[in-house]
Amino acid sequence: MSKQIKSIRRTTVPQIRARKGGEPIVSLTSYHAHTAAIVDRHADFILVGDSLGMVMHGMESTVGVPMDLMIMHGKAVVRGTRKALVVVDMPFGTYEESPNVAFRNAATIMKETGCGAVKLEGGARMAETIDFLVQRGIPVMAHIGLTPQSSHVMGGFKTQGRDEDSWDAHVADAHAVADAGAFAVVLEGMVEKLASRITREISIPTIGIGASVDCDGQILVLEDMLGLNEWTPKFVRVYSDLGPMIDDAVSRYAADVRGRAFPGEDETYG
Ligand code: KIV
Repeated sequence: MSKQIKSIRRTTVPQIRARKGGEPIVSLTSYHAHTAAIVDRHADFILVGDSLGMVMHGMESTVGVPMDLMIMHGKAVVRGTRKALVVVDMPFGTYEESPNVAFRNAATIMKETGCGAVKLEGGARMAETIDFLVQRGIPVMAHIGLTPQSSHVMGGFKTQGRDEDSWDAHVADAHAVADAGAFAVVLEGMVEKLASRITREISIPTIGIGASVDCDGQILVLEDMLGLNEWTPKFVRVYSDLGPMIDDAVSRYAADVRGRAFPGEDETYG
């Protein structure tokens, strides 16, 4: 066994599953090796989310994200990390058709990237598929509430559960994915009381994004919390304002190049 393989010791799926009701689970998205290496020092799991289509590639939604893009970024994140569990999103169109199609694509994602689990969107309607994958060795993280891949059906990115009449359906979704064998479930864009009820009722960890502090863990899109996006949703806390810092660095570089102040003597081979 090579030295490199020996030094890789990742958080496992059962370890995440066992954190239900315990120390909050820390997670962030990451799409490339160098940011993933930083996140790896602090997070329990890293999600290679299909939000990369919007964040990295300027798409208007996640619907157009192809599987090869997920695999490319998934490989980079696995290469850059050694501690966190890496979860890769199954993009729209790669799992909804049938459990067999989902298995083939999930297996390809796992084999090509080396990730430890996949994530897919949908509640009760995906339960049969989740069971099929888990029975065949593929750990699944579920994702309910605001499911961006269905934004065209939902009429946009809308907070879920504002109308109490809708709660039963969301709670049923949470139970369905837990019963089907998902090891954790992302609750996205959901009112606090609904997220709390789901977290109390189901046996697997809930990972909140815009779903209150009551969840068993939290996830944010890294670029959002670093202040790299022009618009920040209400549920994001911006921990560092990197956008203006990068703008300042690039503008000083441009001025130096135009003024022939870069490169200087220190940056020149004599
Ligand atoms: O794609 C993504 O970044 C996600 C998170 C919002 C959970 O699914």
